[in-house]
Amino acid sequence: MVGLKGNQSGIDGGVEMTSSTPISASMQRILKDSFGRVINNLRISVTDRCNFRCRYCMPEQGMTWLAKKELLTYEEITRLTRIFSSLGVKKLRLTGGEPLMRKDLHTLVGELASIGGIEDIALTTNGYFLAEQAVHLSRAGLRRINVSLDSLDAAVFNEVTRRDYYDRVWKGIEAAESAGVRPIKLNVVLLRGVNDREIAAFARLARTKPYIIRFIEFMPIGSDDGWSADQVVPTKEVIAAIEHEIGMRLVPVEMHGAQPADRYAAEDGLGEFGFISSVSEPFCDHCNRVRITSDGKLRACLFSLEETDLKALLRNGAGEDAIAEAIQKTVWGKQEGHLINQPGFIRPERTMSQIGG
Ligand code: GTP
Ligand code: 5AD
Ligand code: SF4
Repeated sequence: MVGLKGNQSGIDGGVEMTSSTPISASMQRILKDSFGRVINNLRISVTDRCNFRCRYCMPEQGMTWLAKKELLTYEEITRLTRIFSSLGVKKLRLTGGEPLMRKDLHTLVGELASIGGIEDIALTTNGYFLAEQAVHLSRAGLRRINVSLDSLDAAVFNEVTRRDYYDRVWKGIEAAESAGVRPIKLNVVLLRGVNDREIAAFARLARTKPYIIRFIEFMPIGSDDGWSADQVVPTKEVIAAIEHEIGMRLVPVEMHGAQPADRYAAEDGLGEFGFISSVSEPFCDHCNRVRITSDGKLRACLFSLEETDLKALLRNGAGEDAIAEAIQKTVWGKQEGHLINQPGFIRPERTMSQIGG
């Protein structure tokens, strides 16, 4: 599944590391794992809370939220980001839960945008609060937005998200568009028998509006996501359905890049699509990302079963070098990839909303 072979000892910048060698932060100012992957992309979850209940993400009832004091403060997030930036991280994505449930998120965006070396700040949101916040976010330095939109039919949208917010999300998407945020990506998690008959409608939308529609294969994450292999709609099938609808071929624009989505455009250039094939064609060998949960745990992989408690380090007075070293060690131990659909697969206990999407 994953092409790269793990190193027992990695040589980088003249510094030799073995899995048993303590790594000094001053030795190496990039983040590299034991399979040679360079990590330059950090996803920061700012809250586990969400006002939606998407069925692929969390159960309808019984979610308990972290207490406010458990969450990293904006100051702590900014300090950590400075350290990550000193280790070569250039791209940030703010996630949740629903990140815009965190008060005045644009102030955090402004702080992060002023950190040297950070070239790109993006947001993954359910869109509910975008209508009122898009302009503030854009002014603060937010470059890109990905909005979850699983259906173009209000009734199906309600069925998937368990909320009646379809119109409001559209107002949010339009507000982001007016605020000049580009590109706007719409994330569609396809569920067999629920929204898979809407592929053609999404294809038409991509050809008339400046949105990149991204079809995401349903992944098993968290103990209560209702996942089964027969609900996954594989990318090959989606591409065929789009080509049938628009009557022309999709042409690859970027394949197997550092981002999870393979990008395709319609032959005549009208409209772009992304395909995130986590289940049918895992992209772990190109992975360039790690995550911090809203309670300050560093996860080297979405599917990690282990976490490093950066919040404890921050709150116990650790210095920059000690934190950088903990980050490097965690990244070095990043797993080769996930094992979805294989016998050894164990799903993380935390829901996607608790990890950060
Ligand atoms: P850009 O391409 O930079 O816009 O970012 P992105 O595609 O990573 O952002 P987004 O938050 O929209 O992620 C889309 C989906 O990709 C997520 O909701 C997940 O389903 C999937 N995804 C993101 N990161 C990972 C990852 O590390 N592993 C796996 N298997 N899936 C991921
Ligand atoms: N499988 C695939 N994608 C998921 N997301 C949440 N749960 C899952 C899952 N089980 C994605 C949604 C949303 C983002 C926050 O996470 O696409 O856009
Ligand atoms: Fe909320 Fe996003 Fe999970 Fe939906 S996918 S319940 S919007 S965190």
